[in-house]
Amino acid sequence: MKLDYVTIFPAYFAPLDLSLVGKAVEAGILNVGVYDLRDWAYDVHRSVDDTPMGGGAGMVMKPEPWGQALDCLLGIGADTDTEVNGRTCVIIPSPSGELFSQSTARELADYARLIFACGRYEGIDARVAQYASSAVEVRELSLGDYVLNGGEVAALAMTEAIVRLLPGFVGNPDSLEEESHSESMGSLLEYPVYTKPASWRGMDVPEVLLSGHHAKIAAWRLNQAEELTRMRRPDLLGRSGDSA
Ligand code: ADE
Repeated sequence: MKLDYVTIFPAYFAPLDLSLVGKAVEAGILNVGVYDLRDWAYDVHRSVDDTPMGGGAGMVMKPEPWGQALDCLLGIGADTDTEVNGRTCVIIPSPSGELFSQSTARELADYARLIFACGRYEGIDARVAQYASSAVEVRELSLGDYVLNGGEVAALAMTEAIVRLLPGFVGNPDSLEEESHSESMGSLLEYPVYTKPASWRGMDVPEVLLSGHHAKIAAWRLNQAEELTRMRRPDLLGRSGDSA
């Protein structure tokens, strides 16, 4: 998968060199490009923002640098070799986007190329998404009902959720099976997990987990998952695919 990030803060993406994502880059599963939007700004100040049309507080990202950046990355109107076999999606992280979820991550893991357009300030001039959608799929996605200072942190979070679903990324694919929001867990949160020692600071691992009785362990885990979901995320219960 090819992953591109356009941002005015390229340093935000240094963590992509770390951990499993860094290893996936080394292994050739991922190919990452980070681009400074200001490289496509055209005035001496390399400005990328301007005041909102119609008035209001804050600044809006100008369409021209974004248009140039997308033309360059998508190879529009030029001889650049940007060919990637398979589908491309431009992702615009935004608090006004559709909610990003595990199923969005699953959908996006099927694309050959994702281009994250990371806005700052009050967002990117709306014509940029309209323009990009004439060439490729575009999705405006929100991490949740809160406002971040820009799209960079959201792009990193979405990246991690997506790339860990790619074949060969997680060492043991079984570990993806029973986690919260996975398909096999329906709409339930994951049950609590324990490791050795069996007793620690006066607290014991639930006895059933030491029993070796697989059916009883599975029943206990399901019960715990249902309890936890009822307590913490009752909104998840009753959704389609729910096993509760
Ligand atoms: N940019 C600012 N806030 C955001 C959010 N909640 N999700 C995605 N991108 C954002």
